[in-house]
Order: sequence, then structure tokens, then C-alpha cells
Amino acid sequence: MSDRQAELDALLVRIAAAPDAEALRAIERETLEKEGVVARLLASIPTLPPQERKATGQWANQMKRAVEEAASARRSAFEAAALDAERSGAGFDATIPGKRPERGSLHPVTRVTRELEDLFTSMGYVVLDGPEVELDWYNFEALNIPRDHPARDMQDTFRCDPEGNVVLRTHTSPGQVRAMERMKPPFRAIVPGKVFRQETTDASHEHTFHQMEGLVVGRDLSVGHLIGAMKTLLRGVFGREIEVRLRPGYFPFVEPGFELDARCPFCTEGCSVCKRSRWIELLPCGMVHPNVLRSGGIDPEVWSGFAFGLGLSRLVMLRYGIDDVRHLLSGDLRFLEQFA
Ligand code: DAH
Repeated sequence: MSDRQAELDALLVRIAAAPDAEALRAIERETLEKEGVVARLLASIPTLPPQERKATGQWANQMKRAVEEAASARRSAFEAAALDAERSGAGFDATIPGKRPERGSLHPVTRVTRELEDLFTSMGYVVLDGPEVELDWYNFEALNIPRDHPARDMQDTFRCDPEGNVVLRTHTSPGQVRAMERMKPPFRAIVPGKVFRQETTDASHEHTFHQMEGLVVGRDLSVGHLIGAMKTLLRGVFGREIEVRLRPGYFPFVEPGFELDARCPFCTEGCSVCKRSRWIELLPCGMVHPNVLRSGGIDPEVWSGFAFGLGLSRLVMLRYGIDDVRHLLSGDLRFLEQFA
């Protein structure tokens, strides 16, 4: 056997016997790196007689490959041994469950919106969408609120252009007019969505919140139909019959207009939610004003309608006992995780 072969064999024996990864690294260093055997062999080539050069180069490469393969095999053996040790060691418990992937959940507003959409579609309503950046026409004018009308002050409006023709919708009511443009009467529609008001925020006021508009257009509709629909709605939301009362309420787009109060579902004696009054102001509504039907291209001599504006954010707060509306859009995971 040549000296070279003997040298390589000795190296391979050392690698196979290396006690740990560190010892293995040291052997690799002394053979493969800068001052290693292989490097020295390669560096010596120019000084050799020409007829020996090729063989020496080949040998250096052969050695390099042999060392690399042996080292890699030894390293795999270390890893397998470490895994075996871990598996058989006292610290290893194969029955410990794996890490659970984190799961997201629906936002409470989304959840209640979807429930209500299911409820309303089961009653023959279609679900419509409208733009959040809205024309003044749809948000005000078509709803019987002309430019200089004092009712404009009821809603502090974010305006998007100097002329005031474009606004962030202050309510979902413009969805009524858009619904009338899109559908032939008779029809029933709801329009859930975000609305915006330029307001100082506090626990019960937020610049962005959610409403759900409802509109029913048909022949000879009366306040009785309106009340019936609202009671069905509340039964769906609270899962049981809820007593209601109507108070007169003023909204330019309905006549007559009402504030519908629901018996507080949380108490019998009065509580903080109903402010001890036993009634919760829940649903402004009314019979659609003839001017609004006309704005939507519907003849008020033939058709009548009722409309309601459900405060979705408020309903979500009631449902889950949330005491500050600002939690809803805070994006705070500590809040949202409670609905997982
Ligand atoms: N749009 C009104 C608001 O945001 C709420 C409202 C009142 C909607 C009466 C209606 C209605 O559809 O009939 O204050």
C-alpha cells in the first residue's frame, strides 16, 4: 500500500472514531482547510516534476471527497444518536400534544352582521351594499334633507371635496335610494355597512361605526307592518319575544318617524344598560316619506314603504356586554381574542 493511501486510511479511521461533532470539525479543519493536507498537496503541484502533477492533483481531490463523505456520514450518526437519546431519555414525553396553530376568529360585528343577514334573507330581504364614500345627493338630498335644512346638523359630516358634493356616508340610509334605483317594487332589502361621523369620541361615540338599513316597499304598507317586522327582527336577535314601544321621532326621510324602544332584555328591575328605565332605545324607523320614494323613482301614489336604521355597533355592544364602542375598531387583539 502506498504511503498516501495509508495516510488517507488513517484519516478515515480517525473520522469514524471521532467522539463528538467538535472533534470531527477539528479533523476536517486539519485536512480540508487552508493549511490542511489536501491544500498542501494542491499547493505543492507546481514544484513537482511534470509527470507527477496530474496524479497528485487527482489524488488530492480523491482525498478531499473521501474525507467529506466520511465526515458527513459521521455527522449523520451523531444526529441520529442525539435523537435516539432524546427519545429514550427521561425528558422525552411522546404524549405531549404538539403546539396548536393560532386561530383567527370573526370580528363580533361581522358575526352579528352575518346572523342578521341570515335572518333577513330568510324573511325575503336581499342584502345590498353601497359606497362608503357617497354623493351628497344620496346621503342627504334624496333623503329629503336639502342643503340648508337644519337636519343636516344632526350628523357631523366628513366632507371629501371643497364643494361638499362628496361625503363619507353618515348613515346607511343612502342605501335606501340606491336600492330603489336597482330594484322594482315590491321588494325588501337591507344594507349593512360602515358609517362615519366627525365626532369627539368617547365610550358611546366613535367616528366610524356600523349600521344596518332596512327598506320594504310594497302596496298599502302601514305602521302595523312596520311594527310586525321590527318584532320579528328582535325575536331573531334576542331569541325570544321582546316587548316594544314606539315614540315619535323626527327624521326627514320618514313620515311618521319613530324611535322604537325594546324592553330591556337584561333585567326586570332596571340596570345600567337601560339606565334604570327598563327600555332600550334601539331602532329608529318610520314610513318612507313620499319625497324619498320619488327620489328613488318610485310613485308614492302607488307604492308605500317603511324603513329602519339598526345601530349594529350598539346591538353588538348590547349582545356581548361591551361597555366602550371604541373597543370595536381598536384592533386590540386582547379584545378580539375574547370572541374566538
Ligand atoms: N339614518 C338615521 C340615522 O343614522 C337612522 C334612521 C332613522 C334610519 C329612521 C331609518 C329611519 O331608516 O327610518 O340617524
